[in-house]
Amino acid sequence: MRIVVLTGAGISAESGVPTFRGPDGLWEGHRVEDVATPEAFERDPETVHAFYDARRAALASVSPNAAHRALARLEGGIGDELLVVTQNVDDLHERAGTRSLVHMHGELRKALCGACGARVPWNGTLADEPPCPACGARMLRPDVVWFGEMPYELERIEQAVISCDMFVAIGTSGEVYPAAGYVALAAAFGAHTVELNLAPSEGVVPFDEVRAGLATEVVPAWVDEVLAHR
Ligand code: OAD
Repeated sequence: MRIVVLTGAGISAESGVPTFRGPDGLWEGHRVEDVATPEAFERDPETVHAFYDARRAALASVSPNAAHRALARLEGGIGDELLVVTQNVDDLHERAGTRSLVHMHGELRKALCGACGARVPWNGTLADEPPCPACGARMLRPDVVWFGEMPYELERIEQAVISCDMFVAIGTSGEVYPAAGYVALAAAFGAHTVELNLAPSEGVVPFDEVRAGLATEVVPAWVDEVLAHR
């Protein structure tokens, strides 16, 4: 039983990390175009750096919740038959113990050098333009994928999606591609598809099974079921 789990902001909501699409359509008071595009960074690097520096600093005061821990427990039970693909840039999956993990939209705790392309672990700020540890250039940016940029490891993810038996989306609105298209791809290749979400998404291709509720409740319950059936 090979399982691919796709997670979005909803899995970290109960840890205190705000989701992207709030009722006001803003991401922590900002329009996405003002902080999450290469154009915004070129136009106003101070604002973009301040935004991600604050998000990175905020990680110190949040912890993984029962949903993150349940996925780590699932990996403990089924090993490398599980791949967790997250759109989240926080590090709560790894702090919960998940190892089989792809950060398709990058990571807050990494910096990307605009000069040499190095991706380096980063816990401090970037607004002060520190030098790249690899080449010394002062061109570091957050290692997060902005709109208009290519997500990471797409080939690996697509291979896993087309060869899985079960595809499970947790806490994602299904509004951002290519991630939003994985349910259709998984279904086309015969996988059983499941959505675990507070408010079911309204994608083009429906999931075979939808369980509505808080991630900290529905995810541990689903993991218990999968492990019980093995
Ligand atoms: P969204 O903010 O679009 O959606 C969050 C989803 O989580 C919604 O479907 C909510 O119903 C659900 N949700 C909220 N609280 C929940 C809870 N406690 N338990 C379960 N579900 C809950 O976030 P994403 O779908 O992750 O991309 O957004 C996708 C991408 O859009 C992000 O990775 C980011 C953003 O712009 C980039 O930065 C490239």
